[in-house]
Amino acid sequence: MFRNFTFRTANKISFGTGTINEVGAELKAGGATNTMIVTDKTIRGAGWAEKIQAILKASDIQSTVWDKAESEPSVEIGDKAVDAARSGGFDSVLGLGGGSAMDIAKAAAVGLTNEGHIMGWIRGGFSKPLAPLALCPTTAGTGSEVSDTAVFATPDLKVGLVSSMLYPRVAIVDPGLTVSMPASVTANTGIDALCHAIEGYQSVQANPMTDAMALESMRLVNQYLRAAYCNGRDMEAREGMALASLLAGIVMGNADTTIGHACGYAFVYPATKLHYPHGYAIAITLPYVMEYNAIAQIEKHATIAEVLGEEIEGLPLRDAAFMAPLAFKKLLQDLRLPMSLREVDVEKDMIPMLARNVLKSPNHCRRNPREVTEEGMLELFQHAFEGKLACEQEEE
Ligand SMILES: [Fe+2]
Repeated sequence: MFRNFTFRTANKISFGTGTINEVGAELKAGGATNTMIVTDKTIRGAGWAEKIQAILKASDIQSTVWDKAESEPSVEIGDKAVDAARSGGFDSVLGLGGGSAMDIAKAAAVGLTNEGHIMGWIRGGFSKPLAPLALCPTTAGTGSEVSDTAVFATPDLKVGLVSSMLYPRVAIVDPGLTVSMPASVTANTGIDALCHAIEGYQSVQANPMTDAMALESMRLVNQYLRAAYCNGRDMEAREGMALASLLAGIVMGNADTTIGHACGYAFVYPATKLHYPHGYAIAITLPYVMEYNAIAQIEKHATIAEVLGEEIEGLPLRDAAFMAPLAFKKLLQDLRLPMSLREVDVEKDMIPMLARNVLKSPNHCRRNPREVTEEGMLELFQHAFEGKLACEQEEE
């Protein structure tokens, strides 16, 4: 029996090398005359912001570059962008960068048509549709260009501004923008895309459309992430990863994520004083999240193992399911990503606190296919600390 479901994404998606040239016409069609380009100094330094200004100018759109976006943006930085958007006389916003720049751009576009600032919108919502917004990712992983969420950090925790109005007017996914990403960023962001696809596939909010996209996204990551990491100029790999990230972003925008993201947030909580790139932080614990969830969804986890390249033919379904986290660990190893919390300065005595931190993300816990208990999370973090799945420990 099929459950009823709804499906949403950006109003329009343009995918492919060279599609960035369409951004002027797209914003013009939305009534833009003066656009704030939200980006960071690295992207600006690579020359992309100025190239986009020329594209906008060809459509008679004035623009100004605001390059103060930073990774894991605070509410304060987001509010500064809102103030800059209002005082600059802009009527539209273009987000250019990774998830941070695009999330800040969403807030700026909300601020152009609504009173107030980010925490007020998180607590009480906002009522007016955003100013015309174009989102142009320069990494392949965050999926923010097709999500209904903008994530910001407070001194205590991460908070999400969530609204169906946060979908942009247009998402322009041009793999050409991702070519200059260094290998480490390719790995960190690409593994985030895979986490979105896997967690969206596990989510109790998954539906047949998100499942189909999640599996295709996993297949593309398995086929192309290693190649994009080894040779950033491999355009087929860049295109494959841009598509994988887009599909995973659409999955996340509908099915959302499970405790994979909550476990990552748990050890980069400000109180722990540990700060790691988003994808990297989530990926360390994801094998253990898959192991925790596998018995709740044996068939789905067997399918993940197969899509990630494991030979499962002839295996009992349960054994196949437990190969999914092993396949994920092989990818971490190939990308030279850390495989245990021990390697990233987490102290053993922090484990009880990390387990409790997961429960501070009630929505992630609610979407998880297996009930989330403090006891279960303690065991999960003990395994993640050592970097050994239960099945690997049995072998010793
Ligand atoms: Fe993520």
